[in-house]
Amino acid sequence: MQSKIAVVTGANRGLGQATARALAEQGYHVIACARDSESGTRAVESMQADKLSVELRVVDVTSADQVRDLGRYIRETYKRVDVLVNNAGLILETRQAGGERSANPLLVSPMTIMETVNTNTLGALRMIQALALLMPEGGRIVNVSSGMGQLSDMDGGWLGYRLSKTALNSITRVFATELAERGILVNSVCPGWVRTDLGGGDASRSIEEGIDTIVWLASDPEATESGGFWRDRARIEW
Ligand SMILES: NC(=O)c1ccc[n+]([C@@H]2O[C@H](COP(=O)([O-])OP(=O)(O)OC[C@H]3O[C@@H](n4cnc5c(N)ncnc54)[C@H](OP(=O)(O)O)[C@@H]3O)[C@@H](O)[C@H]2O)c1
Repeated sequence: MQSKIAVVTGANRGLGQATARALAEQGYHVIACARDSESGTRAVESMQADKLSVELRVVDVTSADQVRDLGRYIRETYKRVDVLVNNAGLILETRQAGGERSANPLLVSPMTIMETVNTNTLGALRMIQALALLMPEGGRIVNVSSGMGQLSDMDGGWLGYRLSKTALNSITRVFATELAERGILVNSVCPGWVRTDLGGGDASRSIEEGIDTIVWLASDPEATESGGFWRDRARIEW
């Protein structure tokens, strides 16, 4: 029998790489997507060295062509996708930058905000549009969001990152409704503050803690809800 197929974006490092490994360890064939082929190859080879079923596809989620090519490749090769983890994401706004990339909403350039949304929000949308029709009943989409996009706990700073994740949560809600009839589960996850390149060394959580709810929603038979925003395997406010 063919293994279940899981697609993870931004799988060359951080939470994405760990999620790809965890799903492969559960027996999924993982299509690890990375925009950088060198670090993507390194990540995939380290998993293959442990006899895991993982392959690399070079996908920049801001490239409509590369995402479309991925969809075509999966349709022709496997005819299905069981799990999609939209993990690729970035923060362009920094405390250090005083100008257009400032974390201060009074200074940040709208172009910086657009670039952030193009990756964190529209990247996930492109992936869903390319792959949702290849999902069978029981398929799962996990959007890696952030508490920084939580309207009920909204704070100052990092406007672009915050609104990219709030908008990603809207994508979760819309597709949870759109895909409900086909039995596809769509959820958002906040992994917490995790020690990755993005989260920094002072973050409170390990990568293993960060991926727990992502992997649970992607694969656990008991995780059967859709249209939620989750942290630590529990629903949180939008
Ligand atoms: N760490 C935290 O505390 C935290 C908290 C809440 C939410 N998150 C979310 O968790 C997700 C993973 O973040 P992380 O902490 O693992 O950060 P990370 O180590 O910086 O990894 C980010 C990943 O996203 C990829 N990526 C960025 N832009 C991309 C694009 N256009 N196309 C394809 N891949 C792209 C990066 O690829 P390159 O190597 O090529 O740059 C990298 O693989 C993000 O969505 C982030 O917003 C993280």
